[in-house]
Amino acid sequence: MTVAIEMGQTTAGAAAAMDLEELLATRLLVQGNSGSGKSHLLRRLLEQSAPWVQQAIIDPEGDFVSLAEHFGHLVIEAEDHTERGLQVAGERARLHRVSTVLNLEGLDAENQMRRAAAFLGGLFDVDRDHWYPMLVVVDEAQLFAPAVAGEVSDEARKLSLGAMTNLMCRGRKRGLAGIIATQRLAKLAKNVAAEASNFLMGRTFLDIDMARAADLLGMERRQAESFRDLERGQFMALGPALSRRPLRLNIGATETQPRNSTPRLMPMPEATLENMRAVILAAPPPDASRPQRRPAPDLLEQLRAAKAAAPEIGPEMIEVPVSAEELAERRERVDRTLRAVLAAPDAGFRAVGVLYQEFVVRCRIEGLGSAVPDLTEFRRMLTRARAGLGAEHAEDDAWQDVSLRASILPDDMQGVFMMIARAAKEGWPCPGDAAIARAYGSHSLRRAQRLLGYMEEQGLIVCQLDGAGRRIVTLVELAWATAPGDPNADDLPAEQVASAASA
Ligand SMILES: Nc1ncnc2c1ncn2[C@@H]1O[C@H](COP(=O)(O)OP(=O)(O)O)[C@@H](O)[C@H]1O
Ligand SMILES: [Mg+2]
Repeated sequence: MTVAIEMGQTTAGAAAAMDLEELLATRLLVQGNSGSGKSHLLRRLLEQSAPWVQQAIIDPEGDFVSLAEHFGHLVIEAEDHTERGLQVAGERARLHRVSTVLNLEGLDAENQMRRAAAFLGGLFDVDRDHWYPMLVVVDEAQLFAPAVAGEVSDEARKLSLGAMTNLMCRGRKRGLAGIIATQRLAKLAKNVAAEASNFLMGRTFLDIDMARAADLLGMERRQAESFRDLERGQFMALGPALSRRPLRLNIGATETQPRNSTPRLMPMPEATLENMRAVILAAPPPDASRPQRRPAPDLLEQLRAAKAAAPEIGPEMIEVPVSAEELAERRERVDRTLRAVLAAPDAGFRAVGVLYQEFVVRCRIEGLGSAVPDLTEFRRMLTRARAGLGAEHAEDDAWQDVSLRASILPDDMQGVFMMIARAAKEGWPCPGDAAIARAYGSHSLRRAQRLLGYMEEQGLIVCQLDGAGRRIVTLVELAWATAPGDPNADDLPAEQVASAASA
């Protein structure tokens, strides 16, 4: 049986297919500058081949997490597991033939290398009975098989390079087909690149990369000059699974979108300069991998600036004069629509932009077309809703104070702060790490802990543990404190869940 994976169209307009069986035997190297469309190409390949073959994706930037929704990949957050744990996970993924995305986002280079190596090692070492064919996709492969020693330890580099070499040189017998993408061919270890027999070459600017590409493809260097003229999403294909002669093709559309997609053009926000001064110059977000101790910022100063700039709270979304009743009724329907969007089980993990699109569609279906809040207003509603606050809180003075304090935090942290503030105001138990992570749109418990650390550094909260290891968070100045809560609790305290549902 031959399975043809449709990658897109040739520039002549014919379907451009890739032979899956041949690909399994002969591997693939994708190269192109950043933005040339490599990750998109990998996504197209993964989506088209998902029904036919098991897949594992080594994903340094969390780009491919969204495959899970449509294609059922298991997402493994590398940050939450030890190397040993990941090795075993790799073995088990093969035993049970489950497609996986190893999300390495948020780890430093050393840990990305170590953990990817452990997981790849697990895939490689599995018992002979389980050597079923499998695509192993590594995006930004130069991170895992660098041509020269970088800043990481020798040990990490050896582990990672060893795992990549195994994948590309000795994987075939074990059913592993390496598919690697890199933005800089010259930065990728030669022995790893040399094992691929299929190439998809995208837009390339640097002479040194062009020269390496020409060597690999057996082309004249002069011929490789044409890689400079390729457009985004255009690749030269060559190899037994693709084409016997260099063939220019356009990669087709994908069903899923990268989570971190390039921002689209949007109308500019209408904000005053003063307003923006407070936002742009607010305290910087925490360094994801290395929390640093910095002197506490001048909180009062920032609060004063924020207060001067704080936008009026309360949805001002309707232009035509309507009766107060009608207004209240519309607002209630908008709120209800928002709750419906947030009721989806994965709503906590989806980007604001995605949630907003869904919200707009639902509003239109509800006949609220003219009353749809804009994105800024939507963010505010989202923050309140995630914190379990109803519209009534918008008018409450103490809450205005809380929103003001929250405004020195980056947008995406404000909901977390409000959620904790709500618990503190009501004297409910402190939410656990999992609930905090979810309110932040993440699965990572470590990220939740870093968030709390950051808010503490900003002088917004004080965290304490009681004798039983339960956490108490006190809001600075307001002096509201949560009841002790188990940091390992899986869900929000029952009170807060009930309140969020009825908010
Ligand atoms: N063939 C294509 N069709 C439509 N959009 C594309 C195509 N290739 C790339 N893009 C878009 O261009 C942007 C950059 O592509 P990406 O795959 O992330 O580049 P790279 O991984 O090479 O840095 C993304 O927003 C992507 O969705
Ligand atoms: Mg990419």
